[in-house]
Amino acid sequence: QKFQSMEESSSLVERANCRAKGGAPGFKVAILGAAGGIGQSLSLLMKMNPLVSVLHLYDVVNTPGVTADVSHMDTSAVVRGFLGAKELENALTGMDLVIIPAGVPRKPGMTRDDLFKINAGIVKTLSEGIAKCCPNAVVNLISNPVNSTVPIAAEVFKKAGTYDPKKLLGVTMLDVVRAKTFVAEVLGLDPREVDVPVVGGHAGVTILPLLSQVKPACSFTPEEIEYLTKRIQDGGTEVVQAKAGAGSATLSMAFAAAKFADACLRGLRGDANIVECAFVDSQVTELPFFASKVRIGRNGAEEVYQLGPLNEYERVGLDKAKKELADSIQKGVSFIRK
Ligand code: NAI
Repeated sequence: QKFQSMEESSSLVERANCRAKGGAPGFKVAILGAAGGIGQSLSLLMKMNPLVSVLHLYDVVNTPGVTADVSHMDTSAVVRGFLGAKELENALTGMDLVIIPAGVPRKPGMTRDDLFKINAGIVKTLSEGIAKCCPNAVVNLISNPVNSTVPIAAEVFKKAGTYDPKKLLGVTMLDVVRAKTFVAEVLGLDPREVDVPVVGGHAGVTILPLLSQVKPACSFTPEEIEYLTKRIQDGGTEVVQAKAGAGSATLSMAFAAAKFADACLRGLRGDANIVECAFVDSQVTELPFFASKVRIGRNGAEEVYQLGPLNEYERVGLDKAKKELADSIQKGVSFIRK
């Protein structure tokens, strides 16, 4: 058996890098927080995505191990690891898509807002890096509380003069993934056949499933509506409690994030009719940010769709959602403006 010398193996890495640089089809994607619970599974899933030519894995701990591990998968994306603040700029330079699952997750008894103190600072630092090194990248922000971290990133980009509202998307896909699963269970359908718009934001009552717009068209009893709305709103807490101190959703979240990132990459490639829900800069309500269906194209979220007709139950839900959202958005904005 022939063993590779250090020189041989580093020249192989060089060759792979050249291949990646030499315009191999695909996009350059960075994951910030890649060694975490979501980050590791998401790194695996993005390494499997044929639209990715280069995958940068950044974290403040453990990236060498995750990078070595994921890089052995025989898919085309070239994987590089970056460890610690000193390497953030190298991790970000040249990226088309930046996915951010960095930060602390919830423990039982915590709300997403309880994470604000720690995660706000992390998102600020990472957003400053993006503004400096890849201001044109599409950003998928996962770190909670999304209702506040998206406004934080927007303020950082505005300060830097790089803000493009179409390029900043708060990831609410897990709410949609859960909604499809729970609704399909009630209807006795395959979740893949079901479409459920989930609008508002990503925390408690701000998560507003529009069950009157479920496709295929169907009707629910008032008890089913109550059950489904609560279960979708409390889906995250259901996982936090089941994990009993070991964190929040990571596997289903990585799945949802990979699905959402794939939609963004297909949009960037120019595919038509890519429509997903996301928390974005919005004029759909009087609030500056709101989650609703958006059409993703070469420039990011190119079109933000209106909510469509709501029934009385949903109108009451919308009022509640907007009250809480207004505070969470303001909290994010003041964190940067203070
Ligand atoms: P985790 O604690 O397992 O991983 C977080 C990772 O971020 C760690 O590896 C940590 O070293 C890293 N990190 C910390 N500071 C960093 C920095 N300054 N730069 C780069 N990386 C840094 O947490 P988990 O479970 O992966 O969750 C991550 C975040 O995602 C949490 O804020 C959580 O609340 C959020 N989340 C969002 C969901 C959504 O639907 N948007 C759903 C589930 C979780």
